[in-house]
Amino acid sequence: MTKIAVWCRHDGDNIIGIGPQIPWHIPSDFRRFRKITEGENLVVGEKTYDSFPNRTLPNRNIHILTLNPDYEVSDKDRHFIYNNIDDFKEFEQDLYICGGATIYKLFMTSGNKLMPDIIVDSKYCGEVDKLEGQKIDITPCIEAMEKNYRKVSPDYEQENVFTSLWIKKGDFVEQNVLKKLINIISINN
Ligand SMILES: NC(=O)c1ccc[n+]([C@@H]2O[C@H](COP(=O)([O-])OP(=O)(O)OC[C@H]3O[C@@H](n4cnc5c(N)ncnc54)[C@H](OP(=O)(O)O)[C@@H]3O)[C@@H](O)[C@H]2O)c1
Repeated sequence: MTKIAVWCRHDGDNIIGIGPQIPWHIPSDFRRFRKITEGENLVVGEKTYDSFPNRTLPNRNIHILTLNPDYEVSDKDRHFIYNNIDDFKEFEQDLYICGGATIYKLFMTSGNKLMPDIIVDSKYCGEVDKLEGQKIDITPCIEAMEKNYRKVSPDYEQENVFTSLWIKKGDFVEQNVLKKLINIISINN
């Protein structure tokens, strides 16, 4: 199993959301995210799951972390509830860690078995929408990335978003997964 974290953060302050929303709309970033995650298993926090249109993402299995025992998903065939992050230690398939901030931080700070093997780091360098709500940032994850990971690609730019791949220092990384990701981020999406 390879664990891949995928995020798009605002350059400088590392904001990924304001309230429930992502405060920018970059079509090629959505398309890149769809290409990376289509057909795959995703893990998200309950707030991110609730922010998806109709609480779903087509053609993906979604694993939702929540501490609410009564939480109900929108698609019982493809969406699954977890209340303990440790359940992902023995996950057999590739796992795409897709936010939000709480979930990225949990995976990046809960020990080697949960840390992503690969990070798809997208940096948005434009203006952020002025929205009401709490600003949510992933600065501790970026600090952990810069300390524990090695950048293995150039920055690929599209629509003011700069995307690069990082892999965990000292670990073997599944080459097929790396190739798939490079193929997606290195072309215009
Ligand atoms: N730009 C990007 O790439 C990107 C990607 C994804 C999300 N986002 C943004 O990120 C923001 C949401 O981030 P967030 O940090 O507020 O929320 P989140 O990570 O999506 O979800 C947090 C929820 O996860 C559950 N949780 C937390 N710790 C847990 C644990 N140890 N075990 C089980 N469940 C646990 C809790 O659900 P319960 O309260 O139900 O217990 C908690 O409320 C939104 O603005 C969203 O749009 C941005």
